[in-house]
Amino acid sequence: MHDPQRREARFVNGYDAIPYPGYAFAQTHPDRLGAIAALHGLWPSPPESSRVLEIGCGDGSNLIPMAYAMPGARFLGFDNAAQPLQAARRAAQELRLGNVEFVEADALQFEDAQPFDYIVAHGFYSWVPTPVQARALEICRRSLAPHGVAFISYDTLPGGYERQVVRDLMAFHSSAADPRQQLREAQDVLALAAAEVNRQRPYGAGVHAEWSRVQGRSPGFIYHDHLSTVHEALYFSEFTRRAAAAGLRYLGESDYAEMSDAFLSPEGVERVNAFAQGDPIRREQYLDFLKGRQFRQTLLVRDDAPLQTARPERIADMLVTSPAREEEPGVFRRGESRLRSQHPLARQLMQQLGRAWPGAVPVRELAATETDLKVACELLLVCFQRGFADLHLWQPSFVRQPSPRPVASAVARREAALQKKLAPNLWHSVVELDDAARELLLKLDGSFGAPSADPVLARLARNALLVQ
Ligand SMILES: C[S@@+](CC[C@H](N)C(=O)[O-])C[C@H]1O[C@@H](n2cnc3c(N)ncnc32)[C@H](O)[C@@H]1O
Repeated sequence: MHDPQRREARFVNGYDAIPYPGYAFAQTHPDRLGAIAALHGLWPSPPESSRVLEIGCGDGSNLIPMAYAMPGARFLGFDNAAQPLQAARRAAQELRLGNVEFVEADALQFEDAQPFDYIVAHGFYSWVPTPVQARALEICRRSLAPHGVAFISYDTLPGGYERQVVRDLMAFHSSAADPRQQLREAQDVLALAAAEVNRQRPYGAGVHAEWSRVQGRSPGFIYHDHLSTVHEALYFSEFTRRAAAAGLRYLGESDYAEMSDAFLSPEGVERVNAFAQGDPIRREQYLDFLKGRQFRQTLLVRDDAPLQTARPERIADMLVTSPAREEEPGVFRRGESRLRSQHPLARQLMQQLGRAWPGAVPVRELAATETDLKVACELLLVCFQRGFADLHLWQPSFVRQPSPRPVASAVARREAALQKKLAPNLWHSVVELDDAARELLLKLDGSFGAPSADPVLARLARNALLVQ
């Protein structure tokens, strides 16, 4: 407090000067991480009673909704920027969360003797210097429980080359010392480039695509993502090499469907598999080259964890959700993707899951016989690999039928009170809030008798935002 040098150091921290917008990231949730670990033969800690660490937790937007939805789990977030941590502590206090703690610490100095079941470093690795990157991997190896899972996201090559041009342009043009002025200059030159490049040529198309990508993003995102003086996009094979050197092993991608080769022709699949020679890391690296991949959200485990290839039988003890809808017999749609299956059990499973959404169904309840259960697990694995079903070890407490005096998630009500356009639901997914949703959320503290036929209330229930 009284050390002027320390105050100066805090002042120049970019994350204190320009806040980075925090969100809940469903792909970092212990439930997702644990289900993937269990699928691969590990015995991860049940999410609802686990210990979770977030490296570079920012304003706590990711940990706070998890702590609210899983009161029996314990959360620790650390960051070296003071301002976002203040916001995190304020939110935890207002929501009366006793199971989450935020500490100011630099990764290089951070020590915690206790093992963590899940460790998350989102939007961190590519934006910190080499020693801090190495330290993040070291923290994961030292602090992970034997069957624990670490999540690390990072920018990847070769897709990163495309985006580097825009970073270089912004850095070349914007020289102001004041971060806000620098940001204005950078946006200015990017807008010029987007308007003037020849979009018929690959170079111009790339610049324009990057300009489109940042439209509508907050100044904090552009400043920290694009203008960071420290940034490294790296090949997946290099990331896994560093992880292995630190004693960590590749489990898979948190967005599991990202590992799918469904975008290749059958001949392409065959050739990639032949080139990969049975090495899953090489296979993933070939896929990155073919996709032009820009970003990864990789899961790592300790190198002594007894990892196996995906085992469908492990799905039998999980829960499953799917928002996919059958748009014509045997054709299921999720977003813009379609899954076709005339398999009677597959159709029956997907229809049951559609009816239960957003609730999860225990897989054992989906099959009448042991034979059906075995087939159901195999089918659900394919659905999970293709992004049409999500596997869970846990289900949050929310209601699909509102009570006469409904109660909404306190986290979502707080976001509504802050006039936010997005709020995390009980599954840790982000839901868009319009004026009507915000207005109703503010009333739903159990004192207001909402008519059960209210369409806005029904929408909140469908989005897993009501706890009573
Ligand atoms: C891009 S932000 C990501 C924040 C959050 N994880 C997210 O994805 O929204 C990176 C965060 O890492 C923190 N950070 C950067 N270097 C750090 C270090 N050496 N030790 C601890 N935190 C650091 C920053 O203060 C910032 O909050």
